[in-house]
Amino acid sequence: MPRYLVTSALPYANGPIHFGHVAGAYLPADVYVRYLRARGEEVLYVCGTDEHGVAITLKAEQEGVSYAEYVARWHREIKAYFDRFGIGFDIFTGTSRCPYHAAASQRFFEVLRQRGYVNERVEEQWYSEAQQRFLPDRYLQGTCPNCGYEQARGDECPRCGAWIDTRKLGNPVSLVDGSRPVLRPTRHWYLDLPGLLQAGLLDWYDGRDPAHPHRPWKANVVGQVRSMLADLRERPITRDLPWGIPVPLPGADGKVLYVWFDAPIGYLSATMEWCAAQGEPEQWRRWWQDPETRLVHFMGKDNIAFHVLVFPAMLLGQGDAWEGKSFILPWAVPADEFYNLQGRKFSTSGGWYLDTERFFARFHRDAARFYLLWSGPENADTEFTWEGFQSVTNSLLADKLGNFASRVLKFCERRYANRVPAAGGSLDRHPLLEAADRSWHELGGHLDRHEFVAACKALIGGCDALNQFFDALAPWKLAKSSAPAERARCGDALERCLAYLELLSRRFAPFCPGAAATLRGMLGAAAVAPALSWGPEAPGHPPARMPAGAALGAAGVLFQKIPDEVVQEEKERLRQTAAAVGA
Ligand code: 2FM
Ligand code: ZN
Repeated sequence: MPRYLVTSALPYANGPIHFGHVAGAYLPADVYVRYLRARGEEVLYVCGTDEHGVAITLKAEQEGVSYAEYVARWHREIKAYFDRFGIGFDIFTGTSRCPYHAAASQRFFEVLRQRGYVNERVEEQWYSEAQQRFLPDRYLQGTCPNCGYEQARGDECPRCGAWIDTRKLGNPVSLVDGSRPVLRPTRHWYLDLPGLLQAGLLDWYDGRDPAHPHRPWKANVVGQVRSMLADLRERPITRDLPWGIPVPLPGADGKVLYVWFDAPIGYLSATMEWCAAQGEPEQWRRWWQDPETRLVHFMGKDNIAFHVLVFPAMLLGQGDAWEGKSFILPWAVPADEFYNLQGRKFSTSGGWYLDTERFFARFHRDAARFYLLWSGPENADTEFTWEGFQSVTNSLLADKLGNFASRVLKFCERRYANRVPAAGGSLDRHPLLEAADRSWHELGGHLDRHEFVAACKALIGGCDALNQFFDALAPWKLAKSSAPAERARCGDALERCLAYLELLSRRFAPFCPGAAATLRGMLGAAAVAPALSWGPEAPGHPPARMPAGAALGAAGVLFQKIPDEVVQEEKERLRQTAAAVGA
């Protein structure tokens, strides 16, 4: 039996996250995990904040707070943000707080070095004599060697987009104190990616490594990685910085591992921390060294190279140095594109964002989850629009799903004393119910293949068929008929509707756990199957007969509609917050 180790990219503890992050790397992972659990699979979902790197040290210094304090604040905020969306990590730790992280990262480095995959080199870098420290890329501003722009960042030019070799920056000045740095030699270590490519990475990537199978790569992965493979070079994996994981070598004082080297090891150290918290500190090996584990990395497209080339190279390069066992390699990398807001990129500082406090005070968390999944950036950049959110909430969640539930339950309340009618099974093979079966039969396959948009459509497709079934049978007419056979048919129809509602509550649960639980509450004692069981999905396997006479709960409203005025108000508010900061 495979087991699933699911990860979402570790967000930098360096600023707010927004709906776009949630739609790309977190919500799909959460749905996948909930689905696998409902299917009875063994799953572990790990995440945490990425707490090192130049962007963080620079910001903390500019704010005048300690690095630890700075990342602790963002760690808390980011965790609270995920909680609002109901993202159910098994562990949400952080790379400076996890007690296993530093040792694991240093061991990775050391093993790679001993196995000949890390090269040492002395190169010139900018040094501040005033501060007596090296100034890595982002600490500097200067003239872009490509386009001449005078306020280019040390690593990248915001005007022409060129990646800059910091040493070639013209007239550099330190962003910390405005002083002019000088070039000085310094020692650094480089990961031999070309060597690791030949040592097995390419075979694995191309699907020629039977010991490490993977799912077919998504188009965006292939698109990015193919061109990188043609020009793969060694990459520096250390920096001169006062914050990070110290390079574990004598004479390497003041040098730390590069943030992108230690961050993905965060998935492993988080697993170690979780296993230790379960009282089984050695069990992490089962998750990371047993070929039965399927390692699934969710992330945005800007993280692809690190998860498909760099991290697998680091894992592969460990060989059998960890007590004679090798590491597994990623099994799937469902990388998403970007998610925008109403025609523009999300920008908290630019006032172009959704205030979560306000949002969740007004709207249902599960309506947000469903809309983000429905409009998710799975294969192309997509966006949140207020009109889209309104339309999905009103026409799909309220009109199709919620309405079906309330029609059925209200009818049973009136005609059957709020109990499950006895059924003779005359409608078990009705074509509209078979249409619902067909739609929902595709659901699990979509989720297995990380096709969340298609899964949402299949779910709603089933609801369409069920509403049509209710309309076609017109139970309100059958119930009034003087013919006993017609009245029996009415009972048969309602029993089927209840059975499909119960199944819906379970199919819907990974997407909208809160609303699914509310729906089960409405079904009362009629919902006998365990709430979190996926159940069989084979075609021609209609839901089981409901227990005749079981008491139903109280019918209610699953999703409130969003009025037009509210949409106008929210759009206007967005325009004003952006205008207020001059964006
Ligand atoms: O792009 C980012 O936000 C990075 N902090 C992602 C790191 S993912 C992983 F490797 F830790
Ligand atoms: Zn430029």
